[in-house]
Amino acid sequence: MDKSKFNIATMIVVGNMLLSSGIASAGEGVAVNHLGVNNTLVRVEGDGRYLLMPVQESNDDATVNVLVDGKIEQTVYVRLAKSKVDYMVPLDLEKYRGHDVVLNIVTSQNRATVREAKEDACWSRFCVSDTFDTSNREKYRPAYHHTPLYGWMNDPNGMVYKDGVWHLYYQYNPYGSKWQNMTWGHSSSADLVHWTHHPLAIVPNGLGSVFSGSSVLDTANTAGFGDDAIVSLYTSAGVSQIQSLAWSADNGATFNIYPANPVITLESEARDPNMFWNNHTGEWNLLLAHPLDHEMLIFSSPNLKDWSLKSVFGKGLGCQDGVWECPDMFELPVEGTDLKKWMLICNINPGGPFGGSGIQYFIGDFDGAVFTPDRDAEGNVPTKWLDFGKDNYAAVSWSDAPDGRRTIIGWMSNWQYAAEVPTVQYRSANTLPREVGLFKGADGQIYASTVPSPEVDTLRGSLFKKYKGMSVGAKGNVVPLPVGNGGICEILLDIDARKADEVMLNFSNEKGEYVTVGYKPGEHTVSFDRINSGITDFSQDFPVVTVAPAFDEDSRGHISLRIFIDRSSMEIFGQDGKFAMTNIVFPTEPYSSLTVSAVGGKADIRNVRIYSM
Ligand code: FRU
Repeated sequence: MDKSKFNIATMIVVGNMLLSSGIASAGEGVAVNHLGVNNTLVRVEGDGRYLLMPVQESNDDATVNVLVDGKIEQTVYVRLAKSKVDYMVPLDLEKYRGHDVVLNIVTSQNRATVREAKEDACWSRFCVSDTFDTSNREKYRPAYHHTPLYGWMNDPNGMVYKDGVWHLYYQYNPYGSKWQNMTWGHSSSADLVHWTHHPLAIVPNGLGSVFSGSSVLDTANTAGFGDDAIVSLYTSAGVSQIQSLAWSADNGATFNIYPANPVITLESEARDPNMFWNNHTGEWNLLLAHPLDHEMLIFSSPNLKDWSLKSVFGKGLGCQDGVWECPDMFELPVEGTDLKKWMLICNINPGGPFGGSGIQYFIGDFDGAVFTPDRDAEGNVPTKWLDFGKDNYAAVSWSDAPDGRRTIIGWMSNWQYAAEVPTVQYRSANTLPREVGLFKGADGQIYASTVPSPEVDTLRGSLFKKYKGMSVGAKGNVVPLPVGNGGICEILLDIDARKADEVMLNFSNEKGEYVTVGYKPGEHTVSFDRINSGITDFSQDFPVVTVAPAFDEDSRGHISLRIFIDRSSMEIFGQDGKFAMTNIVFPTEPYSSLTVSAVGGKADIRNVRIYSM
């Protein structure tokens, strides 16, 4: 087809009426036809793998109806550029090859005339291309944490281990770096630290967009989808929130949507189904968040399709300050005992320990129908937190992990500012994968520990610095960080602060930006201060101090820390994972030195090792 004739606006005179066809100049392979003040057609004329759509983040969403041979195939919401183009997002045309593709776009801005609408920056930049450039353009993109190639990510969900492969699905917007168009993105890994990105796994359909859920291996074929099937249950979020099944017969690459969906409907908001096989009862169980009621619904099923409500957990218990979302539940041995206990994870937003999002959990017993939480000496159900930073949310575990492992990963952000952080090409990373364990605290309560998964050790590069011991006082000792490597490192150290009031680890750069990690032996707490950490002004909720109890009361005065820095994140694991603290930071230059000092006396710092990664 001769594209040139679509490059100029043409006027057609019909009788006495002057009709503006509104055909305007456009990018390669595309014809644009303005129909009205808020309605434009973008026709794919050229051949190519992608239709690139220009985005301006500050603009409102336009409704983009993708018509294939005249029928609506999908509708996506894109912040089409009005005054400037921030970046492009790709609409994959592969499956429409050989067909007629037209976008029927409804924009939301108020305008008086079509002429005004034509001036939007996006129209001349739509183009067809064989490639979409995903090479990293962001200085804050972590080197060894999972991130999407581009676009917005929130909750990790639907994770399952099969045949040596860790499948990680996640809440994903492929059409912009803010939340929208919820889809299951898909990455996989043989070692939990090197990720391969795959095509979209489950995309919005007639029942709504695809919110969080879970996946299991149905090896006994209870659902009848096949012995080898991965079965997933997710929330279809349309006008209502209902639960839908899908299954994959090709190792998690593509999914079939169960035609009899939904399998669970309620009269109120309910989401994030997390299902698991219960060995004790020989049935499936399912936890479903009842967010606004601050409770979890517990179901059972013989076949993953027919679910019966068994009980409701949580009303009035634990932290109730926000919506309850993204549950998980599993049984684990308690370290150093013969006990096994159930752990129920309840992500909550807001209401987290330092504002916004947080992960609370309950320890207790479960008989396949009812979860009975442990109580403290006063008979109360204590609130327990899995992470004492601001940036670990929606954490859930992999189904069917090998060797009895309970491997968990969280979204390394917070709903308070996730959409405002200073990245563009992509938004949000996941935490390091972590192994969950249970231990008995000094108060007799059972708590959860999290340590980096053993695979994380393989990321260690050279031993950059090693100090057997150093005595520090008010002046402080300066330890260089591997700036040659962008400051990406793992730091291990033991602190003996019995003769000091506080020990400070100050991570700083030449720009005067710093993070201070403090240990107070009197309180036996570890704090993380990111008030001067770099770029913080995108949200008033960002520049804060977070504090963790250091557990291990017997070792008061001593603390061992393992700290991971990856460009825009710092994860601290203390006392062999008895507490974790995850915070993101945006220094304008990598932190180049670590100053270790003590106030109110001297402290000994031992076994310091810094590995570049
Ligand atoms: C949690 C959450 C879930 C929901 C998903 C939508 O972060 O709100 O409850 O399924 O995000 O993306």
